[in-house]
Amino acid sequence: MTVLVTGGAGYIGSHMVWKLLDAGERVIVLDRLSTGFDWAVPAEAKLVVGDIGDQDLVETLLGENEIKSVFHFAGSVVVPDSVSDPLSYYLNNTVKSRTLIEACVHQGVSEFIFSSTAAVYGTPAEAIPVKEEAELRPESPYGTSKLMTELMLRDVAAAHPLHYACLRYFNVAGADPLGRTGQSTPKATHLIKAACEAALSKRPEMRVFGTDYPTPDGTCIRDYIHITDLIEAHYLALQHLRNEGGNLIANCGYGHGLSVFEVIDMVKQVSGLDFDVVLSDRRAGDAVSVVADSSLIKSQLGWQPGHDNLQEIVTHALAWEAALERRNNKT
Ligand code: UFG
Repeated sequence: MTVLVTGGAGYIGSHMVWKLLDAGERVIVLDRLSTGFDWAVPAEAKLVVGDIGDQDLVETLLGENEIKSVFHFAGSVVVPDSVSDPLSYYLNNTVKSRTLIEACVHQGVSEFIFSSTAAVYGTPAEAIPVKEEAELRPESPYGTSKLMTELMLRDVAAAHPLHYACLRYFNVAGADPLGRTGQSTPKATHLIKAACEAALSKRPEMRVFGTDYPTPDGTCIRDYIHITDLIEAHYLALQHLRNEGGNLIANCGYGHGLSVFEVIDMVKQVSGLDFDVVLSDRRAGDAVSVVADSSLIKSQLGWQPGHDNLQEIVTHALAWEAALERRNNKT
């Protein structure tokens, strides 16, 4: 069977492509290469450079290849950018998702797996770890744009024979343990990538955004999930939908949090390199603590984390950062 992966040239999408190929699936990637890289798509997959908002193109791809399963990763992901340019987030993440979903309905796609986010919760008002049934109060256009797509899928699945899974990611980090792909976006804002760049002198220093939070060491707490475990959750979701297990909305995280200082210390320890750490003001929009309750994905999909280990996450992230530097120096 052929599977379509939108955004398959990006960080998370490219890991999904490798997983699907490893599992013996045929893969077509649809990516407009706005932030992804053609070299991130394995040669065994077919890369189509194009836009998910091009309904004719998507319908042709789905129809000609008899595609029944779609993983949808394409989208814009920088929270502060969504605040300054909300309309492009509603276009890329909501309007174009609607076009993609319509193409899927027309072409009889039966499994649709959507890359959602913990940003749909906003600052969790209730208990932490946060459960899926918590109130949804996104605090950025990014979170709202993703939530709107979740709601479209819910309504479309009630009216058409399309089954869906929305996976709400917490903080995804690390890289393929075999070193085949990783996070390659320049000017990344994510903590672990930024710290790895500082360790390898790709940036002059590391900034810590806020040290006066009500946490044990004053910095924010996040639930960092290894990309391999996140991808395994997607693959299990595909099997679940193929086996008619029913629609699913599930958190993807480990259920425990780590502080910014703990992460930076681990990057220094694993790399054996020191770098300047500048204590800065709080970054607008950061929640104090965001941690997943992951009991639902465990019970529904039988998902079990295999890489719940900060040292391992950092080791793989650093290895990829070093490989990326070698690649960029060659080109
Ligand atoms: N941080 C720093 N310095 C940096 C980068 C980050 O101190 O250079 C801090 C942040 O202030 C925050 C923590 O590290 O406290 C994690 O920040 P990230 O930018 O790595 O991740 P976020 O938690 O802000 O965002 C992530 C995803 C979003 C998603 C959100 C959902 O990147 O896509 O989780 O909660 F929407």
